[in-house]
Amino acid sequence: MTRSAIETVVFPVAGLGTRFLPATKASPKEMLPIVDKPLIQYAVEEAIAAGARTLVFVTGRTKRALEDHFDMAYELETELAQRGKQDLLDTVRGVLPEGIHCVYVRQREALGLGHAVLCARPLVGDKPFGVILADDLIEAGDRPVMMQLAERYAATGRSVISVEAVEPSRTQHYGVVDIEAESGERFHSVRGIVEKPAPEDAPSNLAVVGRYILTPRIFQLLETTAPDHRGEIQLTDAIASLIDEQGVDCLEFEGTHYDCGSKLGYLRATVDYALNHPELGADFAAFLRDREVSA
Ligand code: UTP
Repeated sequence: MTRSAIETVVFPVAGLGTRFLPATKASPKEMLPIVDKPLIQYAVEEAIAAGARTLVFVTGRTKRALEDHFDMAYELETELAQRGKQDLLDTVRGVLPEGIHCVYVRQREALGLGHAVLCARPLVGDKPFGVILADDLIEAGDRPVMMQLAERYAATGRSVISVEAVEPSRTQHYGVVDIEAESGERFHSVRGIVEKPAPEDAPSNLAVVGRYILTPRIFQLLETTAPDHRGEIQLTDAIASLIDEQGVDCLEFEGTHYDCGSKLGYLRATVDYALNHPELGADFAAFLRDREVSA
């Protein structure tokens, strides 16, 4: 059976971003740039490549920078046009391709990722939808992870989430899945999911990374999900119920994941993207080599 593409992708960008303060005091962490593009733009490009046409941003107190980024910038565009800077004008105008619709909803309090996704419900409606956490940056060439998930969803109609193998000692930092017997494939049927288990309690070392395609049933499940000990509604808890009710698959994606919610992950991404940058790469590599020699 063929199903329609995932038309709507939700971007929760209302977290407090405490690990990056003070950089995140007035602008969301998803606006931090990797070389010359903010994290959120990489995420938006991934969603569009997977077929999304409606982008739903769940914003918090720092929503202005983000809204402005995807809006027309009349003064800047006029200035660039007057100075004959056509390349830069194209770059600025290309931030959001024609035909893509951005909508914004406010999460008034940072009550957790599950709560942020629930805030998007009136804008998503009764359709399956994608979720991308822009601080999980994934370099996967011309087959971005959301595209891989969308293909799986089209084939099965089941919710599907992305996972990657992590050091077994680090499971308490992630949601971790329990899968049906290893099939040798990259997709697995998920048997259960646990939020931040201690290594001795973890059902596997497959950690959830910020890409999901979810059926709209998740909204009803989120509504009845109790807050955790910190008062946050966890998406993982609602997914656990979805697994029992409808079945959920996971994908061990191919690609390089950078946890840009942490400073070290952010710096790793910056170095790799700078090395691969068409204009900067060679000079930056030379700079790094010089530093190594002089260190
Ligand atoms: P994180 O767990 O990284 O939390 O959120 P955070 O608040 O953004 O960052 P730290 O830990 O304080 O440094 C994971 C994703 O969920 C979104 C975040 O914006 C991020 O994309 N989120 C989290 C929300 O939109 N709302 C929330 O209430 C919590």
